Amino acid sequence: MSESTEPASFLHRHLLGIEGLTPPEISLILDKSEGYVRQNRQVDKKRDLLRGRTIINLFFEDSTRTRTSFDAAAQRLGADVITMNVATSSVKKGETLIDTAMTLNAMHPDVLVVRHNQSGAVKLLSEKVQGAVINAGDGAHEHPTQALLDALTIRRRRGHLDNLTVAICGDIVHSRVARSNIHLLNTMGARVRLIAPKTLIPRGVEELGTTVYTNMREGLKDVDIVMMLRLQRERMQANYFPSIREYFHFFGLTYDNLAVAKPDALIMHPGPMNRGVEIDSEVADDFGRSVIREQVEMGVAVRMAVLEVLTGNLPPIEDVS
Ligand code: NCD
Repeated sequence: MSESTEPASFLHRHLLGIEGLTPPEISLILDKSEGYVRQNRQVDKKRDLLRGRTIINLFFEDSTRTRTSFDAAAQRLGADVITMNVATSSVKKGETLIDTAMTLNAMHPDVLVVRHNQSGAVKLLSEKVQGAVINAGDGAHEHPTQALLDALTIRRRRGHLDNLTVAICGDIVHSRVARSNIHLLNTMGARVRLIAPKTLIPRGVEELGTTVYTNMREGLKDVDIVMMLRLQRERMQANYFPSIREYFHFFGLTYDNLAVAKPDALIMHPGPMNRGVEIDSEVADDFGRSVIREQVEMGVAVRMAVLEVLTGNLPPIEDVS
């Protein structure tokens, strides 16, 4: 499958995952993002496309870049933004996910941006509220805006997504970033390799159309893109590898193992990075090849595009005064 440039529309009410999106739908968001990249590089970054709309950022799990990125995206489109760090509010007092959602729903938000540590929690919430819901990461399930911003970063550097070979390396089993990227890259016609110790590879992942490697030099051979993942120790209930030192030795990205990739292979990481654990610090900062900071920039643009397409499906704002 290749990218389509046909005019498309995005008819989904929510963005809960990449699974199920079509190539034209993905391309539509990426195409719209391009305009926002230009807008965000200007001094005047503000538009009033979402004037009168209320967006609530509801984060049941810690986040720095995703939360601020959604915040910036909504504000630059002129929306009113309320950010709730739920871990420190009523959930601590025993309020359930649904109670919290219903309370916020009563404030009539147009969009709820939700992060939760349980897979499926964001979908459950989307069934109870009136506005559009964007999944900002649910457990180890999906993180659709991360995959979209990764795709935008790659497409801008390479000009296309189809026929590229992308290696996703590290803690795949705990990673919603990996899952969303696997869906997106497959849908857009890229080849996906996964590289990790056996213990960090989810069972049956080959069925999603990936090739699994347990050796960095074999897996990185001739790849166009290297996507590193953080070791998510907060999600680990067992010992998945003997020690951090050994992990870095076998699965850390270094100039040594990067030498087998294409000479112009791009280095990516969704952040936050553990320098010296999954990636060598010098490689992460390699000015010519690392696009890690560019990913953060693309994140704001992609989230603006997602807000645009989802609010475009909401009833228009009426003057009820
Ligand atoms: C990722 C996440 O939260 O899933 N980070 C992010 O959104 N930029 C990956 C991670 O936490 O390692």
